[in-house]
Amino acid sequence: MFIDTHCHILKKYYDDIDSVINDSIENNVKLIIFSCCEKEDIEESIQLLNSYDSLFATFGFHPDQIDKVCDNDLDQLENLIIQNRKIVGIGEIGLDYHYPTNKEKQKELFGKQLSIAQRLDLPVVIHSRDATKDTIDILNQYHLRGIIHCFSGSLETANTYIKMGYKLGIGGVLTFKNSKLDRIVEKLSVEHLVLETDSPYLTPHPFRGEKNSSKYIPFIVQKISEIKNIPIEEIGKITTNNCYELFDLKL
Ligand code: NI
Repeated sequence: MFIDTHCHILKKYYDDIDSVINDSIENNVKLIIFSCCEKEDIEESIQLLNSYDSLFATFGFHPDQIDKVCDNDLDQLENLIIQNRKIVGIGEIGLDYHYPTNKEKQKELFGKQLSIAQRLDLPVVIHSRDATKDTIDILNQYHLRGIIHCFSGSLETANTYIKMGYKLGIGGVLTFKNSKLDRIVEKLSVEHLVLETDSPYLTPHPFRGEKNSSKYIPFIVQKISEIKNIPIEEIGKITTNNCYELFDLKL
């Protein structure tokens, strides 16, 4: 079996969520950990968690939410996480310097959520875009575990995160022709990797251009299997195990 450790499932992305979940299960993606990262999505996300056994979630505020989130929202987030055992981590949270934006405010929101993770002893799912140095500096101030979502950095950066105790989230980008991520993955042990789609975005080859969904995880596994010359079943076993340990999942 496989686990999609990061995606976005909401009615605004999918007309028929039932079939997204069922198609995934049919394709051996037995668990999906989706990310709820905006205030407006919380209510629907909790309903989804209540409706499907195969769904778990991480909740947290994305760096693009800096102007919409106040301390009261963070208190509510913390309470919500304490109350719901299917919220198994905090994310996606982090830094995004791709667009001109308020770096200091992003760092502040990121830090506050890392503190919640530390208090609740929960893993974090990290969004870091054009912000590797600051991400590493900030994460080094905490003792946490988690996933570097959609990892696409250098081998050196990969090894830095691994030494800090983080797993690398590998998704559709690995299947893109010019990604160069294959050369990095080739050199990393599968013990440090987890699978993700980031659906509805980043659809793997050969479905690029279509809407992504967790059912495409096997195409990412297939690519890892080719690169590392390890059987698909083995990749599934190791990445699933990584995920169980990280999120302390019990079936
Ligand atoms: Ni995402």
